[in-house]
Amino acid sequence: MNEKHRLVIVIGSVREGRFGPVVASWVAERAREHGGFDVDVVDLAEVEIPLALPAESPKFAGDAYPRPAAMAPLTSRLTDADAFILVTPEYNHSYPAALKAAIDWHFTQWTAKPVAFVSYGGAAGGRHAVLHLENVLTELHAVTIRDGLAFPNYFTAWQDGRPLDAAASGYAKTLLDQLAWWAGALRAAREVAPYPA
Ligand SMILES: Cc1cc2nc3c(=O)[nH]c(=O)nc-3n(C[C@H](O)[C@H](O)[C@H](O)COP(=O)(O)O)c2cc1C
Repeated sequence: MNEKHRLVIVIGSVREGRFGPVVASWVAERAREHGGFDVDVVDLAEVEIPLALPAESPKFAGDAYPRPAAMAPLTSRLTDADAFILVTPEYNHSYPAALKAAIDWHFTQWTAKPVAFVSYGGAAGGRHAVLHLENVLTELHAVTIRDGLAFPNYFTAWQDGRPLDAAASGYAKTLLDQLAWWAGALRAAREVAPYPA
């Protein structure tokens, strides 16, 4: 399969003065450089994501799930994706509420698709957030990628929009290679037969 995989990179933090877009834009650059992906960066700060969900379950309602009209572009970008990278900080040993809300408003959009994680924070580099996300994405029948990228103490470890660690690009390449492999394998499998979720 020569076609590029459609990769959605999600900026998981929405707070004022956030660092998330810096990390996401560096990751997007690496993904474009990789060559295997059409890259779409989704900024959750640009989407209205209510915390109150409808009565129905997105799992059973499918396309009939009553999302706010303004959420439609986000939903269709997630639907069209073959692969995801969630860029997340660590808030109180987990990930931001906005990211959880965006995940919860959807269900089939994650099914049988690979998800990789790029995290940043203090000493743990956002790894606590990623451990929680791995659990959540497994519940949604996504396939989580083992080789994540974690940036501890990002406030000193990044300068001018990039990590100071020269090895970081190599780690990103490994993550992207694994993500591309899974994106192709799972897309082919989804085309052969619907996933039995
Ligand atoms: C509510 C809140 C809780 C935080 N909790 C943690 C934490 O548990 N571990 C950590 O490493 N950093 C923590 N931090 C620091 C964040 O890693 C740091 O603020 C980072 O810039 C957040 O990403 P953002 O700027 O993209 O929002 C916390 C920050 C906030 C705002």
